[in-house]
Amino acid sequence: MPKGDRMNQEDKLIDGKIVSNQVKEEVREETEKLIARGIKPGLIVVLVGEDPASAVYVRNKSKACEKAGIVSETIKLPEDTSEEDLLNLIEQLNKDPQYHGILVQLPLPDHINETKVIELINPLKDVDCFHPVNVGKLVSGQPYVLPCTPAGILRLLQANDISTEGKHVVIIGRSNIVGKPLANLLIQKSPQANSTVTVVHSRTKNIAHYTRQADILIAAMGTANFVTEDMIKENVVIIDVGINRVSADNEKGYILAGDVDFNNVLPKVSKITPVPGGVGPMTIAMLLKNTLAAAEYQESK
Ligand code: GUN
Repeated sequence: MPKGDRMNQEDKLIDGKIVSNQVKEEVREETEKLIARGIKPGLIVVLVGEDPASAVYVRNKSKACEKAGIVSETIKLPEDTSEEDLLNLIEQLNKDPQYHGILVQLPLPDHINETKVIELINPLKDVDCFHPVNVGKLVSGQPYVLPCTPAGILRLLQANDISTEGKHVVIIGRSNIVGKPLANLLIQKSPQANSTVTVVHSRTKNIAHYTRQADILIAAMGTANFVTEDMIKENVVIIDVGINRVSADNEKGYILAGDVDFNNVLPKVSKITPVPGGVGPMTIAMLLKNTLAAAEYQESK
């Protein structure tokens, strides 16, 4: 590839590591101030089962907390943990003043009702913004904390001077973790949002008809390399939320791939997030921010 072309392609990258480090540094400084006042923010992470990808995410969350000065403990429970035992644990954690944030890593094993678990978490400790009270506050424009991945995406766009105002944002995927809360954030009446939003999903007829209209395309449905160059318009901004393990003939036995076929779309986009190193680090940084905010709020009462 000629040198000029390579430079051009690097200019297109939206680097999540740079922006997440900025957020983490802000959190570290604020945490230091809080600790000086005798308050140590704490996060408890609960992991049920052996899903290897979840184990990696949880370890990364815990490491990032430590670096920022936030106390972080992880409780690992076996796959066959009963729903009742998990609910009892949540009740205990709700009462434990050491922990300002409770994060139950999803997905949970099939025999545990996720909704029941989420609804039992004290909304003030719900640093994921999954509890219906906090989802309601978000939708009505009075958020307690913002959902981590959607807030990370908005911060990433802002840091790269990409305005969402008046833009047509097309989101692929309607999950409670990304698609739905992100759509709710982007339609808010605020200079950081003010988008026209279309959400497409597995039952949408002719997804490409919609994705081709996107000024900003956000892929969050969990299918490796789904978005290809025929599905986008020239100069679109692409945010790739997918982290998919694709079998490969290497030491690990897999490589990570996004929901977007990166090399295929690259010549046509104006900006794009890589996988890894795009949205992933932002999710963790926003979790730290939420834990700090939850600690400040709970300790001010
Ligand atoms: N599983 C995948 N992403 C998330 C997240 O942001 N929070 C929790 N609790 N579980 C997840």
